[in-house]
Amino acid sequence: MTNKRILFTGGSGKAGKHVVPYLLDMGHRVMNVDLEPLDHPGVDNLIADVTDSGQMFDAMSSYAGRDELEAGTGVPHFDAVVHFAAIPRILIKPDNETFRINTIGTYNVIEAAVKFGVKKIIIASSETTYGICFADGQINPHYLPLDEDYDVDPMDSYGMSKVVNEKTARAFQRRSGYDIYALRIGNVIEPHEYAELFPGFIEDPAVRRRNAFNYVDARDLGQIVDLCIGKDGLGFEIFNAANDGNAPDISSKELAERFFPGVPFKRELKPDEGLYSNLKIREVLGFEEQHNWKNYVPGVRADG
Ligand SMILES: NC(=O)c1ccc[n+]([C@@H]2O[C@H](COP(=O)([O-])OP(=O)(O)OC[C@H]3O[C@@H](n4cnc5c(N)ncnc54)[C@H](O)[C@@H]3O)[C@@H](O)[C@H]2O)c1
Repeated sequence: MTNKRILFTGGSGKAGKHVVPYLLDMGHRVMNVDLEPLDHPGVDNLIADVTDSGQMFDAMSSYAGRDELEAGTGVPHFDAVVHFAAIPRILIKPDNETFRINTIGTYNVIEAAVKFGVKKIIIASSETTYGICFADGQINPHYLPLDEDYDVDPMDSYGMSKVVNEKTARAFQRRSGYDIYALRIGNVIEPHEYAELFPGFIEDPAVRRRNAFNYVDARDLGQIVDLCIGKDGLGFEIFNAANDGNAPDISSKELAERFFPGVPFKRELKPDEGLYSNLKIREVLGFEEQHNWKNYVPGVRADG
């Protein structure tokens, strides 16, 4: 049990409301910094806006809860910052607002963390950096599988904001020497969404093309974040954060022939490998998925 003191931004959202409980279950203390509180036992909430640098510097030097006043030894230090707060796609806010909130918010959070000496920072990047998700029309990737070495080139404001955030993270890492990891998170799926959404994915796989047929279970994303918290000394790293295999359950070779014809394969894939590669989190972080979609979709047998 590592018992880290973690400042987590955006913990009240779709992903955070599963990742934060996972981290609490792993024995960490979590202060959620969000515009809305997360109503979950054990989580401390601080209402703050990540686009306001002053609020982030204040949050970074804050007591997490009233119990921390008792020791009389001053404000404890955060061991890690996990930054999820963002506008999570295009077409929620005007494009310029999405770009502003996501890039300034990330700058503010990383700057305050680094200047307060928080040596482990994890930020939410996105599958959309690969440029397929929010492209105008159908875009083919340069190669498959999509891996972290890819020259990311989105054409939308959200994907662009995440590319900028990766660069911001890299710059702060170079200056500080701290560990800053960016997770290119796949399409987040909450437990209740399997029965709702996946029968439609099986019926019409084409609807998953823009996601390159990836998904990440929100609880398995918790595991990935926890593994990042526990893994020191990597410097700046980018990790695809996705579950194993494709959804729906069609081989990568067949999906590529049907939906990405002519796109070269960079390497041969194992039969169970997805087009959105999670090899790096498995090899470097030791990720082992716990929640394959096939366990949760009625009428589909899980085999692993
Ligand atoms: N949901 C996905 O499929 C997906 C995929 C890839 C990456 N991501 C990224 O993962 C992260 C979490 O995504 P999500 O789906 O949970 O999004 P969400 O919109 O459900 O949650 C985001 C949270 O951030 C908070 N927030 C927004 N602006 C804020 C601000 N200015 N100050 C403080 N808090 C603010 C919101 O109140 C919300 O609770 C985001 O960075 C998103 O871009 C999500």
